[in-house]
Amino acid sequence: MKDYDERIKELLGKMTLEEKVGQLQQCGPSLVGAFVVSFEELLNMMFDGRISQEEFGRLMGTAEQDFHEEDLRAGRIGSYNGVGDAETVNRLQKIAVEETRLGIPLLFGYDVIHGFKTVTPIPLAESCAWEPDLWERTGRMAADEATAAGVHMTFAPMVDAAKDARWGRVSEGAGEDALLNGLYGAAKVKGFQGEDLSRKDSMAACVKHFAAYGAGEAGRDYNRVDMSEQRLYEEYLPAYKACIDAGARAVMPAFNDINGVPCSVSRKLLRDILREDWGFDGMTVSDSNAIAECVDHGIAEDKRDAAKQAILAGMDMDMSSNSYIENMKELVESGEVPMDVLDEAVANILRVKFELGLFDDPYRTDSQRESQTMGKPEYRALGREAAQKSMVLLKNDGVLPLAKEKKIGIIGELASDRGEMTGAWAIGANGDDCISLTDACDARGIPYTYSKDGKNILKMAIESDVLIAVIGERKDESGEAASRASITLKPEDEELLKGLHTFGKPVVVILFNGRPLAIPQLNETASAILEAWHPGVEAGNALLDILYGEVNPSGKLTTTFPYTTGQCPMYYAHINTGRPGGRSKFTSKYLDTPLEPVYPFGYGLSYTSYEYSGLKVEKTEKAFRISAEVKNTGDRAGDEIVQCYVQDVVAKRVRPVKELKDFAKVSLEPGEEKEVVFEIPFEKLGYYDREMNYVVEPGLFRFYVGGNSRDTLMAESVL
Ligand code: GLC
Repeated sequence: MKDYDERIKELLGKMTLEEKVGQLQQCGPSLVGAFVVSFEELLNMMFDGRISQEEFGRLMGTAEQDFHEEDLRAGRIGSYNGVGDAETVNRLQKIAVEETRLGIPLLFGYDVIHGFKTVTPIPLAESCAWEPDLWERTGRMAADEATAAGVHMTFAPMVDAAKDARWGRVSEGAGEDALLNGLYGAAKVKGFQGEDLSRKDSMAACVKHFAAYGAGEAGRDYNRVDMSEQRLYEEYLPAYKACIDAGARAVMPAFNDINGVPCSVSRKLLRDILREDWGFDGMTVSDSNAIAECVDHGIAEDKRDAAKQAILAGMDMDMSSNSYIENMKELVESGEVPMDVLDEAVANILRVKFELGLFDDPYRTDSQRESQTMGKPEYRALGREAAQKSMVLLKNDGVLPLAKEKKIGIIGELASDRGEMTGAWAIGANGDDCISLTDACDARGIPYTYSKDGKNILKMAIESDVLIAVIGERKDESGEAASRASITLKPEDEELLKGLHTFGKPVVVILFNGRPLAIPQLNETASAILEAWHPGVEAGNALLDILYGEVNPSGKLTTTFPYTTGQCPMYYAHINTGRPGGRSKFTSKYLDTPLEPVYPFGYGLSYTSYEYSGLKVEKTEKAFRISAEVKNTGDRAGDEIVQCYVQDVVAKRVRPVKELKDFAKVSLEPGEEKEVVFEIPFEKLGYYDREMNYVVEPGLFRFYVGGNSRDTLMAESVL
């Protein structure tokens, strides 16, 4: 990355204290409505039922957006969040560049989490492709569309490993495993930032939420995170570090505390680990209002105290809380915040602005580029590929793939509700951009009968050969502030399925959802189950591609599907305990639920089958070389995700029974057999001992290779 330190130093030397503080301020357009009450009051009126959701939406529609232009002209704003159109971006940028004293360009950030206009599958879905190349390609596409709309930085990738399916934001990351989250995040960073951050179609990646936001107690959003240092370093930090190593230019600290210290004011996280240990020289930006919320955490007396703690801890930019803009000048003048601390925060922000090329060309897009870029056919095709590879076949008694002549009955409102296909955080697209399952059937002339609610469907059931039940979650039932205390199917879906089974026809279940669900009864009764997640704009087309066998499903779960909510948090890399769960009474298990999940991490079926054999482990000078044969024993080609897990059998701290160390996606023709080889450097087999030293110890290791974390071959070797 080019060195801008001289230009930064020169500019800092010209800036007044007020102008420096202005650079730390990121604000979003606030809604000033035609309504006579405040936004907060309007929300309360809706929550209290004094106005309906529709009325609330109508009133919101009358709201204008206030971009605080006067503050901008006064040099009191350095960045905006949540502006996604070229015209507005350029209008505000023009004020910053031409009407402020020093003309420092604005930085526009937005939540481009899984696509902008061409919304791709939610990250949890896309992670089930186990394909870094795909993740990078969809990241590149998202960058092209988002930058065409004026975005300079995306608040993504989110790489919060999540082991508790009650947490709604499990939908936004790459599942429960830190290695997978790290590979997913690094691929996204490369996709978003491209080869040259100053290119018009590149945007800065802001890795979040730093750190361990996915470990909130009881799966409740924003809740406390309390864990050993060892666990933090072994099971959570590696995912963020992979993104920093991939060149991410921004980091967003998490809302939660870790062991009592909110991330927003954690010097250990933001200075010791991020900057000292990892060498990060980009910028940090708080989560929305997070600095002010340190008062609610009980770690700060007021916003002034919160502002002081945050900047001293290493938080550069304040998103939307106004803690810095209201207090920083006085904090510096009083000497409580040294000028060099302020200068360092400003320099980090200016560095990213320079790297984005904003000083040389602050207007990186226009309405023409915007309209030419959005939703290109090749982007729709990529969205469809991503959706195909993200879907996971959980059960199939042979009813799939469907034969063209089969008459199908489709039941469930999610089959036609386009807007639900985008999933959470779909900012640039709406339902009109999406293809639903019924849309896709219509477009292909597939005859079907359809019922949204499953009522009075006797005629449909009699005339149909196969019934397709489309159930799961709406997009707002996962994502932020969407934790669920129960992750079972909704009662109305249970009822629907019970009714369908009375007709004696095969029932294929399509799941649209943003988290693992506890569906043991489905696994018992359905003829087939296809986990489709929230697949994005090409949902219907990708679904039919798989249902009719044009595409052989290859997706594999990156989160464990438990039997019941009561098993949460549930994950594959668990420890053995001194009494591993078994048949005798005094072992670690539940009285009322099986110990195993319904579907394990790494699980997914295909329309063909695979056989593993010949597992061998050899040692080279610095690594274990693990090899196995994988054969396609079915009658059609397929892609198999071969997984390699390792167990350190004896160590100074208890170690997980399995840890994913590598994987490979292998294409096999019918009858074809390939050798798959993994090289695991000894250095990757370490852990943190009781004194927090990273150690790689001699001893017995077990190596597991298979198509999921449960059904594996095993071989031992000694380091
Ligand atoms: C939200 C989310 C964060 C997002 C930010 C800006 O509260 O926690 O992921 O990037 O605000 O929208």
